[in-house]
Amino acid sequence: MYLKLLIFFLVGQTSVYAASPSAVPARHGLVTSTSALASQAGVDILRQGGNAVDAAVATAFALAVTYPAAGNIGGGGFALVRLPDGRVFSLDHRETAPGSASRDMYLDTEGEIIKGLSLKTHKASGTPGSVDGLLELHGRFGVLDRKAVIQPAIDLAQGGFPLSWQMAESFNRMLRLAPDFPATRKKFSNAGEPFQAGDIWKQADLARTMRAVSEQGRQGFYNGWVAAAIAAEMRSGDGNITASDLQQYRSVWRSPIKGEYRGYQVWSMGPPSSGGVLLVQMLNMLEAYDVKSMGWGSAEQVHLMVEAERRSYADRARHLGDPDFWDVPVALLTSKQYARQRMSNFDASQATSSHLVGAGESNHESEQTTHFSVIDKDGLMVSLTTTLNSGYGSRLVIPGTGILMNNEMDDFSIKPNTPNQFGLLGMEANEISPHKRMLSSMTPTLVTHQGKPFLITGSPGGSTIITTVLQVIVNLVDHGMSIADAVALPRFHHQWLPDVIYYGRYGLSPDTIAKLRSKGHELKQRSVLGDANSIHIVDGVRYGFKDPRHEGQAVGY
Ligand code: DON
Repeated sequence: MYLKLLIFFLVGQTSVYAASPSAVPARHGLVTSTSALASQAGVDILRQGGNAVDAAVATAFALAVTYPAAGNIGGGGFALVRLPDGRVFSLDHRETAPGSASRDMYLDTEGEIIKGLSLKTHKASGTPGSVDGLLELHGRFGVLDRKAVIQPAIDLAQGGFPLSWQMAESFNRMLRLAPDFPATRKKFSNAGEPFQAGDIWKQADLARTMRAVSEQGRQGFYNGWVAAAIAAEMRSGDGNITASDLQQYRSVWRSPIKGEYRGYQVWSMGPPSSGGVLLVQMLNMLEAYDVKSMGWGSAEQVHLMVEAERRSYADRARHLGDPDFWDVPVALLTSKQYARQRMSNFDASQATSSHLVGAGESNHESEQTTHFSVIDKDGLMVSLTTTLNSGYGSRLVIPGTGILMNNEMDDFSIKPNTPNQFGLLGMEANEISPHKRMLSSMTPTLVTHQGKPFLITGSPGGSTIITTVLQVIVNLVDHGMSIADAVALPRFHHQWLPDVIYYGRYGLSPDTIAKLRSKGHELKQRSVLGDANSIHIVDGVRYGFKDPRHEGQAVGY
């Protein structure tokens, strides 16, 4: 008896999970996303014999129904897949600039930005990549029938589901601020009246569109009546996407970015996302320092991480863009030696001023993207981040289809050295060209340790995505936290310009803030930083954790 107690005590002491009941444990498969219904759709597919890719595709289509602020078929995203044999693949299904797009398309004759044009109009949308990407993923790695993985989304759209308080509020706020697009008003109101929590929300048009995709595959979206409806609406609203843009769209398999951090292997998304390159760059910079002994949340650790972030984001503005159009020096930026060189002027006592290289401003629009993580019984891992860019994208619903369009064109550098909605600056590497992909910060990430699955993570949050993922990894690897603590604890963010440390509510103590100020940092509080729905794998057990900053659920079996 005493022996049993002793063993229990010792085992309890060695596992971070002994004291962390809020992560969902599972022996077989698990999905964690920002919608409980979408996570459940993925797990149902796993239980039917589907693998993690089938489940991810089912979850992604379901999110387009149950989380319209960012789940989508009118936007784009990135996915990382790791097979049980250790091979890692990454799929870029980012939107592309329409064929008629041009470098200065959002500027007036004086060269000034026409306000709102790249955000809230028909012209704001890139050619959507989600449907092609999800079908490509499924076609290459899925084991169930295409119809089986799309059906849960069709059922949710057709049969409807009760709106949560948050969703009803979010629809009503969006409609107050949205341009007056009639199909948007129809989709997001209850016959013209505001939705209330508990109302059943049905999307018959979206169900019909998804049925076309289910029956005809990519033809159902990029040709036929759905494509014709998109092209017609674009023509009537002075937008740019044509039938030919839609027909030409193709997702692309890219080489994943690979890094090594204190013996852990980090796999993430390469250009046209800046996420993987910056993540590995920052981890390389941190590796030379004893982050663990600095202590979580200490001024010393925050200062070090901020200085790594500042240097990496400065590189983002200059070097990162669509690799099909711009030569991105990936090998250099992700090398250990380059990290050492970039940190050679790091001063532990003093902030390095970003203003030596020019100033930027940030204005925070509503931000929505969504990330989900999936693992199956064989250890196949999927990390997928998808977005319309702003919450509800351009807010344009294509009549008759239920499709909400993205406003991803704003992720291009629409005017050199001018901050976009995330305060990010861009230069030539990210200027607009026909069919080019706009630079992203999305960072779907997989981490392995000794050849075994360790972590699946990622986040929304525009420019803050990469620093969110960085902190989840540092919290787990350096501080040995449980996934619940690693994800739920407050975060901070620096992006070179503006030269400010943003920190989440209750993120830094007054003493820490004072210490950071004395080193020369400016600090500002910000409401929400990220939504990092993650899975941590320990001794084969999968621990799923839904970031408490948003709705959703981890579901496993
Ligand atoms: O691709 C990007 O980096 C942005 N379009 C992501 C937008 C975003 O995360 C907004 N969400 N919170």
